[in-house]
Amino acid sequence: MTKKIFSGVQPTGNLHLGNYLGAIKNFVELNNDKENECIFCVVDLHAITVKQDPKELRNNIRETVATFIASGINPEKSIIFNQSKVSAHAEAAWILSCVAKMGWLNRMTQFKEKAGKDKEKASIGLYSYPILMAADILLYDASHVPVGEDQKQHLELCRDIAQKFNNDFEAENFLKVPEPLIQKEFSRIMSLKDGKKKMSKSEISDLSRINLTDDKDSIINKIKKAKTDVSPLPSNIKDLEKRPEAKNLLRIFSSLNNLSLEETIKIFEGKNFSEFKEKLSQVLSEKLEPISKEITKLMNEKDFLDKILLDGYKKANDIASDKVKKMHEIVGF
Ligand code: TYM
Repeated sequence: MTKKIFSGVQPTGNLHLGNYLGAIKNFVELNNDKENECIFCVVDLHAITVKQDPKELRNNIRETVATFIASGINPEKSIIFNQSKVSAHAEAAWILSCVAKMGWLNRMTQFKEKAGKDKEKASIGLYSYPILMAADILLYDASHVPVGEDQKQHLELCRDIAQKFNNDFEAENFLKVPEPLIQKEFSRIMSLKDGKKKMSKSEISDLSRINLTDDKDSIINKIKKAKTDVSPLPSNIKDLEKRPEAKNLLRIFSSLNNLSLEETIKIFEGKNFSEFKEKLSQVLSEKLEPISKEITKLMNEKDFLDKILLDGYKKANDIASDKVKKMHEIVGF
């Protein structure tokens, strides 16, 4: 069955191992399946919900495209574009914001985390961000949306918004209710400094994450400094329950080698961390160094990257402007 895949990544710099294992690696696999139609969006409108330096943003948009390509997404077999160019996204987001309920948005945990204690100072955009995300997905009749665990709640909201729009306007099945694609084991990669916190671009310490642009030496250094505990590695999953850092590192190893967590545990049971960390650094360098080198190379080919975005824009704009036009009719404009 053909799947219509849509997903987005914010061009806010520091794309890291969490983005890769939680999302981009999955994009590549979905893109390799000939049956699927894939759309990957650089969500620059989402990026400006927190302050961005315009020059850096421009650079980060290209770097995100470079990361897609370097990771193995084929631009010939997918649509890659940046959100701000297709004006239907902002337009549909407005219409949907008149359908979504404040009460629904008030439940969004990511807003609470990002806005922190001083909610009054957060931008309105940060608050209504999940509605824009719903617009992104619904404009393309996406059937499946590959994301990390942190986006699950936003996808549930997207489903609610689609259903409410269809009901409110008696437009049965007009907005397609999408299915999330969340990889069970690897959907939440944690910080290298605290196994209870998500690996994140916004964390101040660079030692908390492996960036996709890190070279071999920094990977080795970061893994060496990654937090662990004093016990040797366990022989079963249950014993990992109170050991979040050990669990996270074992998960990273598993995902990179396409192994299950059980299989990885079998390899390292009873071993100490120094031996395991050496193997982990090795596989990380093997998998990430080619990506990082390719990103650097592609960043010197700006015309190539811009051409991908332009081609993607044309295709995405055709689909999205048609859908938003129909939305206009349904709403009564
Ligand atoms: P963003 O840019 O924060 O993250 C991009 C993707 O990476 C995943 N991710 C992680 N996965 C596992 N472990 C982690 N530590 C980790 N950190 C990030 C995210 O879940 C995401 O899949 N709102 C979205 C972008 C977006 C979008 C969309 C996604 C906008 N419109 C439509 C899907 C469909 C975001 O901010 O992702």
